Amino acid sequence: MKQKLKIYSDSKKVHLTQTVQKGGCAAKIPAATLREVLHSLNIVNVDPNILVKNSSFDDAAVYKINDELASIQTIDFFTPIVDTPYIYGRIAAVNALSDVYAMGGLPKTALAVLAFPLKTLDMSIMLDILKGAQDALAEAKSSLVGGHSIDDDTTKFGLAVTGHVHPKQMWTNSNALEGDHLILTKAIGTGTLTAGLKRGLCEDDIMDGLLSMCQLNNILDYLPKDLALHINAATDVTGFGLLGHSMQMAQASGVSFNLKAADVPILPGAKSSLEQGFLTRAHKTNREYVKPFAQIDETLMPWNEQLLVDPQTSGGLLLSVKPKYSKAMLDVLSTNFTQAQVVGHVTKKDAKDLYVTC
Ligand code: CO
Ligand code: CO
Repeated sequence: MKQKLKIYSDSKKVHLTQTVQKGGCAAKIPAATLREVLHSLNIVNVDPNILVKNSSFDDAAVYKINDELASIQTIDFFTPIVDTPYIYGRIAAVNALSDVYAMGGLPKTALAVLAFPLKTLDMSIMLDILKGAQDALAEAKSSLVGGHSIDDDTTKFGLAVTGHVHPKQMWTNSNALEGDHLILTKAIGTGTLTAGLKRGLCEDDIMDGLLSMCQLNNILDYLPKDLALHINAATDVTGFGLLGHSMQMAQASGVSFNLKAADVPILPGAKSSLEQGFLTRAHKTNREYVKPFAQIDETLMPWNEQLLVDPQTSGGLLLSVKPKYSKAMLDVLSTNFTQAQVVGHVTKKDAKDLYVTC
């Protein structure tokens, strides 16, 4: 991974994060606000071929084309989260592709969404952002086939991705089963590390975080089919943090999740970054979002609690897997996802959706 990543951009050094107020998935509209608005909108989807829609807060929509094929559609875009244009483009693309992987699908085509301040930034920066995305797409064996761009005050970039999945083999967030083990494929902490970038840290300080965000969640490229079929449910951990996405998955599945804080992999530097107070608005809103539905051990250190609600950009997959196969899966995954860990297990629905122990 480290060798493969062309980390440095050709364009003259700019500090993209200094050109925006909020970065990455931390700039998401808070989950509770979004829920309220979508609820009032009362979307009616009557087409029986829509297998997964927005109501379950899954990662992407799935539309059945025939018995063997369904298309997955998703979109993600955000403001610069890192300083180097190439890395920003790559992270935005990997993050957008992630929602296709989280459904058990393979990405095929992508459309770029780009807002760019023509007056203040050099065109070479735009080119580098697109190069980063193109390299990620090539690694994902998918293609950039179009897009839309506007001249805007603030840079924003992302992709609308279409992928394919067999309708019987897709993963949703609503089928976690009692007894399942929960595997997290990447370490967390990108929210605080990138908040640090805006406040004094430099990219070299958070290199592990950058590499993690640049890594595709393409676990199906590595997992043999007979193992992959034991994944009962999946989601990717992004803006709502590990607890927010765990809670959504537990609720959608009608079960409770038990997470063990000590087993959650942490990106190097994230602990000290949290202790230095490099936080985002999302740390607060994510904590409020899960509060009514979660029981968190009171002896957990404050930084550790912040870490669990740290908004991830291009975070890992959270997999709910048959317990018998979790070790075999980890063994295969850990070659490429060196931080992958079992972080908890699934129980019958209890008073709370989420239990966090030390
Ligand atoms: Co997602
Ligand atoms: Co997403």
